[in-house]
Parts: sequence; structure tokens; C-alpha cells
Amino acid sequence: MDLFNVYPLLDIEPVKAEGFYVFDSNGNKYLDLYGGHAVISVGHSHPVYVKQISKQLKKIGFYSNSVQNPLQKELAKKLGRLSGYPDYSLFLCNSGAEANENALKLASFHTEKERVIAFERGFHGRTSAAVAVTDNPNIVAPVNGNHEVTILPLGDVDALEIELRKDDVCAVIIEGIQGIGGIHIPDPEFLKLVQQLCKVHNTVLILDEIQSGYGRSGKFFAHQYAEIQPDVITVAKGMGNGFPVGGVLISPEFEASFGLLGTTFGGNHLACAAATSVLNIMKEEALVENAAKVGEYLIDELKKIPEIKEVRGVGLMIGIEFDQEIAPIRKDLLNEHFIFTGVSGKHVIRLLPPLSITEAEAHRLVVALKLILSKK
Ligand SMILES: Cc1ncc(COP(=O)(O)O)c(C=O)c1O
Repeated sequence: MDLFNVYPLLDIEPVKAEGFYVFDSNGNKYLDLYGGHAVISVGHSHPVYVKQISKQLKKIGFYSNSVQNPLQKELAKKLGRLSGYPDYSLFLCNSGAEANENALKLASFHTEKERVIAFERGFHGRTSAAVAVTDNPNIVAPVNGNHEVTILPLGDVDALEIELRKDDVCAVIIEGIQGIGGIHIPDPEFLKLVQQLCKVHNTVLILDEIQSGYGRSGKFFAHQYAEIQPDVITVAKGMGNGFPVGGVLISPEFEASFGLLGTTFGGNHLACAAATSVLNIMKEEALVENAAKVGEYLIDELKKIPEIKEVRGVGLMIGIEFDQEIAPIRKDLLNEHFIFTGVSGKHVIRLLPPLSITEAEAHRLVVALKLILSKK
């Protein structure tokens, strides 16, 4: 059997990783400023994380959601405390798309309405409702195309109000910071108005913090810069530092009932051990604060480079936009300077490093970029 060939691959085989470094099969050491797509939060193979998962695996790795599992309660308590949502409840699942799928379902059950409002350039995953609310027709198959979705320009309050007045919208879904769309931060005033309008029109506000959450922005959630409290928040990526785990944080206004949502693997013992150790490490090492500090330094330094068109983002979620195509720059970063970066389209380099990086590593990127750009 061969693999279903859906990914364009770099010609690199990572065989080991440690902290913010990745080592390939040829013995090369790379600085990881991509974090496997915003997944590595506390650092690769963190010893506390490895120990807690290994210890758990020796006891019990999995049982279904038909028995008591105190690890889930411990995780929910810790997440509630650290994120500033102690009175919300948690539904555990396995990925970002699944978190959004469940959030949308919940909104529809709760309001008994069907239509969803999402925003241009937004990405919410590849399962049915999640992909339907994603602004990319190329990945929406006919089988996903029957959802009632309206996609509006990000920041257009008037258009939003017109749609919400029709009284058929169950949810507005929005990323804390648009990631795949190229690192665009929704205006805090816009977010406040979205929250107000959702309340008036009995519509659930879902904040997709799958990429921008878990400390990446320098606050636990990016929407906390706007001082709003969404009804539902979705998380994944950094939550498990590589272990597949996702979650839906649900406001006390929602009532749970048996069978409303469900999953086989979600919240299994190993996933809980991974996610709990991530929270412990984040707190112990003050990683949210570190993301804010190092991010500010890096953004300031990048803004001083004249060849860069625009630097967007906050904390360690950064987009660097160029007039020129970025493929050659990214190639030089990788092959000559041994630095992994991400992309968004043809003109934006995306940085999503482990939250533990220091200014010294951030500085390495600045030096490398200056060198590369001076030669182009
Ligand atoms: C904002 C956002 N939402 C949802 C997803 C989907 O997550 P997953 O790939 O875990 O299904 C992603 C993935 O990149 C994302 O960036």
C-alpha cells in the first residue's frame, strides 16, 4: 500500500527533537520557529511531559467515556483556572476540526437555529461543518456544501447586524487571530460589538482559539486582549504539545444532557496526562508571559528590517509579509541557516515557535533574514 499523496513534503526527516530544536536523519540541527504548525507549545520532548505520559501509559492508557476518569476533571479544573474560565465546562475531543464541529453542533442545539456566520480568510478545519465555515471553496466537497453559511468581511459590523436580524443564525465563529489566512488580528472594538450583537440576537459566539490560544498570543486566549467572554471557545494544537487532543470550553448557560455530544477517544487517559502536563509546564515556566516578552522583542526587531512589507501579530504568532515571493527566502532560512518557518500563501512567512524560545533564538532569525535579504 502507498500513502494517499495529499501533502507537499520538505525533503527532511526529523528523527529527534528537544526544546526548540529538531534534528534530522543527516544529523542537522534546526531551530524550530514553526512548532509543527503551532502545536509545540511547551517545547519538544519536554522531560516533565515525557515523564507524565510514560508514567500514565504504564498505568492505563485508554478506556472509553463510560467509566469514571478523574484525570478529565483535573484537566478541566486546571484549564479553567489558567485560562480565566473557571465556571465554564469542558468537552474533550481529539482535534481542532472536531472541536469546531462540536461547538457548531452545540450552538445549533442550543438556539434551534441553523445558519452560521463566519469571516473571509477564516480557517476552521476540514470536517463537514468546520470546512463549510472555512473561507476556501477548494477544500469544500459537495457533501460539505449543504450547510447554511454566510461568510462576511472581517470587521464589517453593519453586514453582521443585517444578517443577525434575520433571526436564523445559530453561531458566529471567528478566530482569535486568523492563522492560515495570514495572521490578521480582529479589531478589539469589532469583537466587542460582535459579542453584543450575538447576545441581542440569541446567537452563540464561538471563538476558535485552536491556533491563537494556549498562550501563543501572550495571553492565554487572543480574544482576552478585547476583554470579551465568548459563549464557546475551541482549543487543540498547543493543548497536547503533539499529543492529539482538542476541547470545547462551554459557558454555564449551556445545559448538558446525556448523548448530546460524544466521542470514543476524546479525553482518554493518555491525552489527559499530556494536556495536564502541558498546563503544569506552562504555569511553572511562565510560558504565556515568555511568549508576550519574546514576541514583542521579535516583532520590534523585524519591523526594523526595511525589505519587509509588514509585520503582523502578537506574542509568538507572527506573520512577516514581503512584496516578493517568500519561497526562496524560506529555502535559504532552512538550508543555509537551519531555521524552520511556516507560510501563508506566497508572500507571508508565519512564525509559530514553541512558547519557550528565548530572545537569543529570536535574534538568530533576525540576523539570518537580514543576511538573506541583503543578497536578494
Ligand atoms: C484556527 C484553526 N481552526 C481549526 C483548525 C483545524 O485543526 P485540526 O487540523 O486539528 O483539525 C486549524 C488548523 O490549522 C486552525 O488553524
